[in-house]
Amino acid sequence: MKDGTEATVRPIRPEDEPLVVRFHETLSERSVYFRYFHMMNLERRISHERLTRICFIDYDREMALVVERKDAVTGACEILGIGRLTRLREGDAPEFAILVSDQVQRLGLGTELLRRLVEVGRSEGVATIKGYIVPENVGMQAVSKNLGFTVTYSPEEEVMVAELRIRPGA
Ligand SMILES: CC(C)(COP(=O)(O)OP(=O)(O)OC[C@H]1O[C@@H](n2cnc3c(N)ncnc32)[C@H](O)[C@@H]1OP(=O)(O)O)[C@@H](O)C(=O)NCCC(=O)NCCS
Repeated sequence: MKDGTEATVRPIRPEDEPLVVRFHETLSERSVYFRYFHMMNLERRISHERLTRICFIDYDREMALVVERKDAVTGACEILGIGRLTRLREGDAPEFAILVSDQVQRLGLGTELLRRLVEVGRSEGVATIKGYIVPENVGMQAVSKNLGFTVTYSPEEEVMVAELRIRPGA
């Protein structure tokens, strides 16, 4: 991380559920709105039914990475961010979504998660990766542009669409 802290990026695992609960407790309403496009209260975000689903990867259609920090003294682990690449329907471009804990935003984690998701897409041979971004979310638009995505406004959906063609000629 930009402050020198060491963190690990790895795929999410079913046993991460308690760490994901703690991660959600760190999020501001603004971050939740930017990620889900609407408000979703903590109780709903950490329901067991939902977390079982989101901590389990269906590798045929998605990849989810977490950033984990381990306390050097206590050995306790903490999730600082989650990035997900999901293909909603066969043949569609996979979509990214990133969420970084408020206290550690602007330390490079969002960029690193998106960079790694692009690598995942590339190794899977996908042609294009997309992301839908709330228009006032200038941070996610900047991160996407820094990694080469084009970001355009879609008047029909009233969102910004970030797009990166990763297979030449696609
Ligand atoms: C948007 C988000 C993923 C960005 O991740 P991050 O780790 O905070 O961003 P990074 O540290 O990688 O940012 C890299 C650069 O992007 C730009 N940037 C990032 N956030 C910004 C912001 N809020 N305003 C302006 N520029 C921003 C800056 O140029 C930054 O470099 P700098 O800090 O040296 O100036 C994170 O803030 C977040 O989780 N927000 C809430 C949820 C969300 O918006 N998810 C996106 C859904 S698609």
